[in-house]
Amino acid sequence: MTTDQYAVIGNPIGHTKSPLIHGLFALETRQDISYTAIEGPVSPREAFAARVNSFRAAGGKGMNVTAPFKLKAFAMADERSERAELAGAANALRFEDGRIVAENFDGVGLVHDIEVNLDLPMSGKRVLILGAGGAVRGALLPFLAARPAELVVANRDVTKAEALAAQVGAPGSLLACGYRDLEATGRFDLVVNATSASLIGELPPVPPNVFSPKGTAYELVYGKGLTPFLRLARNAGVLGVADGVGMLVEQAAEAFAWWRGVRPQTRSVIDRLTVPLD
Ligand code: ATR
Repeated sequence: MTTDQYAVIGNPIGHTKSPLIHGLFALETRQDISYTAIEGPVSPREAFAARVNSFRAAGGKGMNVTAPFKLKAFAMADERSERAELAGAANALRFEDGRIVAENFDGVGLVHDIEVNLDLPMSGKRVLILGAGGAVRGALLPFLAARPAELVVANRDVTKAEALAAQVGAPGSLLACGYRDLEATGRFDLVVNATSASLIGELPPVPPNVFSPKGTAYELVYGKGLTPFLRLARNAGVLGVADGVGMLVEQAAEAFAWWRGVRPQTRSVIDRLTVPLD
């Protein structure tokens, strides 16, 4: 029997944790797989699809896709899940019988981390998401499925948040607004920073009154310690702060289960990758 091959493709790809995560999953579940990192070509335009196809032609069974290729991976698929459709982006591909199937596990991974690992069921809670980019598009359906009392999406460019809300079409439970509007929306049980601001050490212009001391602040970026957003939350008295390491591992577990039919344990992998917040 030959070893089934998987890979993560992105650019840059040097710092990816995916081979380590999937390697640990494979050990634990006794799956005979190899998992490598591929630096995908950003130009010319067709080169990305060609690289995916050459991996597939060489016997590859599936891929994880990271920046900047999630849209291209989505576009080249023959079949797409509803989550991937709404996100307009794929973070996982499966190659089966000459077809490419696209999935997006970022949102379910995030919700699983919040509800299971952090033990914070969102049902009936007030939830605020900052940002309206690709990360949020992928998260909206899984968030709504968790049945929060209210889900508010705030973005600098309000029209982007409004367009997203209209696309999802869940009137009443999903609201779009700008950061200024948050001064009047009261406290939230959970505030998720899904902007890319923390990647460059910036703070989204979120007023501190959105935080509830008994609530939680969640930063999608991981491994950067207390980001300006988490610091703001701490200063507002929030005890529960978390970064996105759990989301990273949970989306990987979803992809692994989709490919291999067995869901790995995630706790020890998350612990191994966690960088203390302070
Ligand atoms: P991703 O796919 O990682 O979400 P993206 O689609 O480029 O990346 O979206 C980035 C998001 O971060 C956007 O919501 C962006 O807000 P705008 O749409 O208003 O530009 C948000 N963002 C980036 N830097 C930010 C900052 N300093 N403050 C607030 N929001 C920021």
